[in-house]
Amino acid sequence: MYNFQFKNPTKILFGKGQIANLPKELSKDQKILLLYGGGSIKKNGVYTQVMQALSDYDITEFGGIEANPRYETCLKAIELIKQKKLTFILAVGGGSVIDATKFIAAGAEMSEDPWKIITEGLPVKKALPIGSVLTLSATGSEMNSFAVITKEATQEKLSFGSAKVYPQFSILDPETTFSLPKRQIANGIVDAFSHVMEQYMTYPVNAPLQDRFAEGILLTLIEEGPKTLANPEDYDSRANMMWACTMALNGLIGVGVPQDWATHGIGHELTALFEIDHARTLAVVMPGLLTHKSEQKKEKLLQYASRIWNLNEGNDEERIQNAIKRTVEFFESLEVKTKLADYDVRPEAISEIANRLDKRLGNVGLGEHRDIKKQDITKILEHAL
Ligand code: NZQ
Ligand code: ZN
Repeated sequence: MYNFQFKNPTKILFGKGQIANLPKELSKDQKILLLYGGGSIKKNGVYTQVMQALSDYDITEFGGIEANPRYETCLKAIELIKQKKLTFILAVGGGSVIDATKFIAAGAEMSEDPWKIITEGLPVKKALPIGSVLTLSATGSEMNSFAVITKEATQEKLSFGSAKVYPQFSILDPETTFSLPKRQIANGIVDAFSHVMEQYMTYPVNAPLQDRFAEGILLTLIEEGPKTLANPEDYDSRANMMWACTMALNGLIGVGVPQDWATHGIGHELTALFEIDHARTLAVVMPGLLTHKSEQKKEKLLQYASRIWNLNEGNDEERIQNAIKRTVEFFESLEVKTKLADYDVRPEAISEIANRLDKRLGNVGLGEHRDIKKQDITKILEHAL
């Protein structure tokens, strides 16, 4: 196992009715910006619950954060914060709203263009404190320090991370997810599955506990995910799903082990160019990545085949191929398609994506060995033709 440092400061309030505890987490002196998305919270009762809990607080609202949140919209929220001297941001929504909140929280405390945090690595010296009420289990943003922002003007979708943007608290009430459309439930399962794979499917460093954490989450998603799709109001499976998604990307399973993240890197280009849902891009890219890198990932792929899919017969090659096949079948069983054509992406787009990424990456490639470059990206995407 590699050396590591681990600190996760986010307090989790988990379960039915936890929104009522918001006042215990927020001082009355705070001037709060309530940030939300396209309006789902106004239809499913979450907005009402939040406003009731905070009825005697100073609240300013800002709605309209897009799925794949836009830099341009975030700038407007930053302006509002500066103008009204707001002191706290409460995100109510899914990963997009929480990611936007992180970017806005950092941007509100700086005079330069906050996009420089992402493109020039400008350090986040200060950020407004933030909290969240999560309504979609998927990204783990509610308990991590990352955010992914899209700049409309240049069609770039890029991420940043800073310890200054961990939410102080996140409320995870599984009932808030009852209203999710099937497409978003399925996206959540696939996104969390991919998060685990990015931190697990590399090479062994003798870290059996991290491996078993990861395998526990994968098995939970495989067992509970389809139940949430079949019965959206099954509280127990919703709760298990919610906690599994948070644990998939709150830092715990990735400590002391190599990490990949090539699937996400390539996937973000697909979203930036074609506005494909984040999770669906991962379902398109991952099978190709596992196939293309099956030699380097051989030991972990065999472990995955055995421990996740119970594949213990046949030679190494057959077990690996079957494990990848089972992964694809799992995604497809959730109605998450795995081919580029399913999303009307033409084969010519492959070279465009490979060129864009290559330019961005420079000499350092993607993946746990930093060796995934233009030609590999091309081959990986060709698997999805
Ligand atoms: O905008 P509203 O009206 O709220 O509707 C949203 C949106 O249309 C809807 N929704 C959310 N909760 C709902 C609901 N509809 C009904 N009932 C509810 N309870 O779902 C749609 C998608 O929401 P979004 O927040 O975009 O989804 P998700 O949570 O999957 O977030 C995706 C974003 O997170 C980024 C992705 O790249 C993408 O931009 N990621 C963030 C990560 C992180 N911070 O660590 C890691 C991930 O890998 C990912 O990249
Ligand atoms: Zn993801």
